[in-house]
Amino acid sequence: MARSNTIVPLARPAKRRQGRFGEYDVTVPLARGGMGGVYLATCTDTGERVALKVLDPQFASSPEVVERLFAEADLASRTIHPGLIEIREARRNDEGLPYLVMEYLEGETLGALAERDTLELGTIIAITAQVAAALAALHAAGVVHCDVKHDNIYVLDQTIGCWPRVKVIDFGVSRLVDDPPLADATIAGTPWCMAPEQWKGAPTTASDVYALGCLLYELTTGTQPFDGSLPELMIAHMEKRPARPSWLRAMPIELERIILRALAKDAATRPSMHDLATELAELVDAYTPALRRAG
Ligand SMILES: Nc1ncnc2c1ncn2[C@@H]1O[C@H](COP(=O)(O)OP(=O)(O)O)[C@@H](O)[C@H]1O
Ligand SMILES: [Mg+2]
Repeated sequence: MARSNTIVPLARPAKRRQGRFGEYDVTVPLARGGMGGVYLATCTDTGERVALKVLDPQFASSPEVVERLFAEADLASRTIHPGLIEIREARRNDEGLPYLVMEYLEGETLGALAERDTLELGTIIAITAQVAAALAALHAAGVVHCDVKHDNIYVLDQTIGCWPRVKVIDFGVSRLVDDPPLADATIAGTPWCMAPEQWKGAPTTASDVYALGCLLYELTTGTQPFDGSLPELMIAHMEKRPARPSWLRAMPIELERIILRALAKDAATRPSMHDLATELAELVDAYTPALRRAG
């Protein structure tokens, strides 16, 4: 599956990081983020495991990057929801390196899962219904995620009924609903799933709905709604109609309608995240084995 990363981060190889971060001892690198690494760490007092997002030293001297990292913790802490990552604290270690303390998630990203397997429609709907419910709670708290994509959804080693449980992660480019538009040169998000208004630097809660529509499109059909270079993608998201998803994979008409309404060019005509969550949750029932529903 072709995929592109968030525009903001720079990709670099994974690095080992040793040392103390407050009461935590870093053990294993889990993943490379855009401007640092995510590490598994253990509390020396209690043995509790957490995940630390640590800025790389070359970014630690940039006030904007540090402010962004701390804003990530602030925005995440405005909502407590089982479908949202819990970011507990933003701090600096003794060397002045800024880092976030997060709950440690065991599992893998939806991106990794989808790359390995073609997911059944029931699984896709169950996962996106949880994502929509989590994002609806986030929107109700006045926060726009701005980077909804498979790599920012974590599929846990847990289930809800017969479906995998998921959490939305990465508030790295999130904003408050009331924040002013971004300056032209600083588009932040992921090009293949960015709504027309987000390309213009003015993301709203409806932009998260659009991104979830792109994600549903890609998970169901195996292709992104639009492909091409950055300028081509921008024009396509602003002006073109994607191929109907049901041409690419058989699916219930209700699901196709949800996807196409989420992908409306005019943000005002998209469903709210709350409505999307409700409609997806209703569809999940149709895919849940009868035995489980009865029980
Ligand atoms: N709490 C966590 N527990 C386990 N792994 C995590 C956690 N948070 C992030 N990761 C891993 O680190 C990667 C990068 O983290 P993310 O918050 O998405 O940063 P970035 O903004 O750099 O993309 C994720 O895709 C995921 O694989
Ligand atoms: Mg990410």
